[in-house]
Amino acid sequence: MYIAAMEAPARNTGQIKVYGPEAFEGMRKAGHLAAACLDMLVAETKDGVSTRRLDDLARTFVLDHGAVPACIFYRGYNHTICTSLNHVVCHGIPGERPLRDGDMVNIDVTVIVDGWHGDTSRMYAIGEVRRKAQRLMDVTYDAMMRGIGVIKPGVTTGAIGHAIQEFAEQQRCSIVRDFCGHGLGRVFHDAPNILHYGKPGEGVLLKAGMMFTVEPMINLGGSAVKVLNDGWTAVTKDKQLSAQYEHAVGVTETGVEIFTLSPGGLHTPHSLASAAA
Ligand code: MF3
Ligand code: CO
Ligand code: CO
Repeated sequence: MYIAAMEAPARNTGQIKVYGPEAFEGMRKAGHLAAACLDMLVAETKDGVSTRRLDDLARTFVLDHGAVPACIFYRGYNHTICTSLNHVVCHGIPGERPLRDGDMVNIDVTVIVDGWHGDTSRMYAIGEVRRKAQRLMDVTYDAMMRGIGVIKPGVTTGAIGHAIQEFAEQQRCSIVRDFCGHGLGRVFHDAPNILHYGKPGEGVLLKAGMMFTVEPMINLGGSAVKVLNDGWTAVTKDKQLSAQYEHAVGVTETGVEIFTLSPGGLHTPHSLASAAA
């Protein structure tokens, strides 16, 4: 079930790869660039700006830094970022629709640096958002960090899901079950799946050297999701708001390292006062 990454084929074989220090160094660089891209978008994500414009800015930023946007050509996707607005759960496609005061949007970017993937997303608020939207985004960030906080060798992936689920449900929110976190390294979506619900003891045992994402999608209403006819955009069935945060992490001997921390300290753009349009 576990394999030294150096000996594994560079594709998803279902085996869980355990990486060494050089891989962690590679993931640090990739994570840093992805996070810097989300930092750059903070000032740009404002009233009147189209999500296509944000995608253009992100693509230029990534290419200018000698990296490659992982989502271009990925299973027919054609953009650098996903922009998931309001009741969109994930995989929203950038387009002409301008952002408007009161919108909330998740921006998810994945970059490839020297073959390593950096995958991260944050919530951005446009102007004044409703109090319940603000609360959902707070709950989602805190849920992700609680999940990351239990990571260490010897616990299972179920402990991560449990920490997220327990907190989010206490806050009267629901957890999306149709999408999960994933192993990450030279492969974009690798084993294991990281469920955002569950019980301690379920799932797979964490070992130092594993690398994966934690990326809970949390809803104000029910957990049910449907994918629109474009084949990508996932929305809540009840059209209530959905939020997501994502970090890429590695399991260390003593706990966890987050590869995608914001270089500018902009960990929660949704809680920043909006820049003037
Ligand atoms: N970045 C997303 C994730 O967290 C995947 C996007 S795939 C795309 O796994 F093709 F929609 F971009
Ligand atoms: Co992502
Ligand atoms: Co991901």
